[in-house]
Amino acid sequence: MPTSKGGPGAGMPRIVEPTPQAINEAAAALRSGDVVAFATETVYGLGADTFNESALMKVYDLKGRPRENPLIAHVLDEQQARSVADAWDDRCAALVKRFWPGPLTLVVPKAASVPIQATAGYPTVAVRCPNHPVARQLLAIFGGAISAPSANRSGRVSPTTAKHVADDFADVENLLILDGGPCDVGIESTVLDMTRTPPVVLRPGSIGADVIGQAIGERVDVYRAKEQLASPGTASAHYAPRTPVTLLQQTELAAHLDAMGERDQRAIVLAIHMTQVPLPHALIAMPSSANAYAAQLYDALRRADAMNGAEIVIELPAQPGPVWDAIRNRLHRAAK
Ligand code: TXA
Ligand code: MG
Repeated sequence: MPTSKGGPGAGMPRIVEPTPQAINEAAAALRSGDVVAFATETVYGLGADTFNESALMKVYDLKGRPRENPLIAHVLDEQQARSVADAWDDRCAALVKRFWPGPLTLVVPKAASVPIQATAGYPTVAVRCPNHPVARQLLAIFGGAISAPSANRSGRVSPTTAKHVADDFADVENLLILDGGPCDVGIESTVLDMTRTPPVVLRPGSIGADVIGQAIGERVDVYRAKEQLASPGTASAHYAPRTPVTLLQQTELAAHLDAMGERDQRAIVLAIHMTQVPLPHALIAMPSSANAYAAQLYDALRRADAMNGAEIVIELPAQPGPVWDAIRNRLHRAAK
């Protein structure tokens, strides 16, 4: 059982290749009320049996997650999604047909059988059908829904490799981590509230409001931070490195780095349009394609944080498009 002990001699998390034997072991751990970490196409998840109340509380405890922040139930298919939902309309069916398996999470009324620990007391449940083979094999062998937040300590940067998970939970003895390699998408799923009319994107992701709207033939709104807090995970203090983050336009970078240099402060720079930075600064070059940028962002933030600069200075990408919008959303949160 994963317990948080720490100290010299404490066991380490266990990163394992997703062999059939390892998947079986992880499914057995879930059945016995334990927590396991696993790869999805977005970020790694820290999962527990959706119907096991004490297992769900272990997820909150391990992450240090506020009790009022609900979890996403991961399911293998639409049929399993319907079993955790109290209502499932034609629009949900259309969205599933178009985007599942994939990085779209639907918030729907929850079935009475779903424990309130899975939804932090909300009358709704968030459901997502991941398309990573490791997550899918685990769901298939386990045979039920798996509630899983991102497998990071609460408030920190989400993990996109097994190593990131092991780093965050280094003190958790025997935490099983199913290694599925680096996550392809790299940023968390789009969270869409289907209980509102029109539906509202609570958290932007790689699937944008425009294509969602096309799939259901309806307008879709996008939640803006200044409006009433709708989804606890949209609180701003989130996804943050320990080092202060400054976001700048491309044109502002050079002057900012010069001023820091004059104060003998070292910046770790994440930029698309720079090929070098003056000493004492360090550059992490970021890709110019949105999908590649998203896939590398969290690893770059974690690496930048580990370099112990005075600031992480990030060039704010200016390009339009849903993936860039989601990237900007994560960058603004990292800078809070
Ligand atoms: O891509 C993802 O969604 C990843 C992978 C592991 O699937 N999971 C993830 O989980 O990002 P987490 O817990 O870090 O973020 C879940 C988000 C939070 O913003 C939470 O508030 C929101 O979904 N959420 C969950 N249930 C909700 C509900 N019933 N109503 C509104 N928002 C909800
Ligand atoms: Mg998270």
